[in-house]
Amino acid sequence: MTRLGIIGFGNISTTLLTLLKDVLEDPLEHLTIVCRPEYESQVNQIMRKDFNDVALEISITSNTEILINNKPNLVVECAGHDAVTEHIAQVLSAGFDTVMASVGALADAALADSLYDAAHKGMSRLIIPAGAIGGVDLLASLKKHGKLDVSYRGIKPPAAWSGTLAAKLINLDDLSEETVIFSGSAREAASSYPKNANVAATIALAGAGFEATQTELVADPKATGNIHEYSVDSPLAHYTLRVESQPSSGNAKTSVTTVYSILREITNRIGPIVI
Ligand SMILES: NC(=O)c1ccc[n+]([C@@H]2O[C@H](COP(=O)([O-])OP(=O)(O)OC[C@H]3O[C@@H](n4cnc5c(N)ncnc54)[C@H](O)[C@@H]3O)[C@@H](O)[C@H]2O)c1
Repeated sequence: MTRLGIIGFGNISTTLLTLLKDVLEDPLEHLTIVCRPEYESQVNQIMRKDFNDVALEISITSNTEILINNKPNLVVECAGHDAVTEHIAQVLSAGFDTVMASVGALADAALADSLYDAAHKGMSRLIIPAGAIGGVDLLASLKKHGKLDVSYRGIKPPAAWSGTLAAKLINLDDLSEETVIFSGSAREAASSYPKNANVAATIALAGAGFEATQTELVADPKATGNIHEYSVDSPLAHYTLRVESQPSSGNAKTSVTTVYSILREITNRIGPIVI
């Protein structure tokens, strides 16, 4: 894989580019960064200064057509739900496989259908990375057998809930103990907390579905990182998985494990072994 497209130039993308500089044996042949139009010149400057050696050729654009014309072997979305709506169906229908970080966007059934149709039409793949969590391989395997009971709990420090619906419902600065800020289905969690329920959405898609995946979101002043835990009950196996991840340095809402999961999606397309 020598031609890469990245949609978004925020916390995940810039950390990913920093990691790619270390991991790549040879520079990419081509890298396209898709950003918002108002940031093009700023992104250009940062790319030239900090990431010039990641690829032999670099394009910065806000135009999906340019991304497509650059014929990426893989596109990685790390931008948010608006960007999913704006770019991904077009990229998939043009035949380019896409790793999508903003998984919660798939709780919107109409958007999800349009992406699946686009992938079908383009004979491409929409790739859902494990993201901040792990064990998605086992969950998706157990689903093949049939019925699953799955419950998920996402615990983050109060600062990670700032700017969300929770900040309107409770005073996050005054919390002295862990407080459940949401309890319901993964679908409701993803639509009410789009930046904090990507893991709920990933687990729902891999396992019992958006309606049946019970979800609890918690603000905990004692939490030092972002904790994701889920339990699975199937006739074949039971398991509980708990990940305590450091938040990313650039965005408290994003667990740093997410960046490494996306890096894995890229490196799995470069080396001779997929793991
Ligand atoms: N799958 C997971 O487990 C998981 C975990 C954490 C975060 N995420 C998701 O990953 C995404 C990125 O996270 P982040 O921490 O890098 O966020 P961020 O806010 O730091 O960066 C997002 C970037 O995307 C850009 N952007 C927004 N809309 C765009 C558009 N239409 N076109 C081009 N660029 C656009 C923004 O300007 C910003 O630079 C978010 O949607 C987040 O919810 C997923």
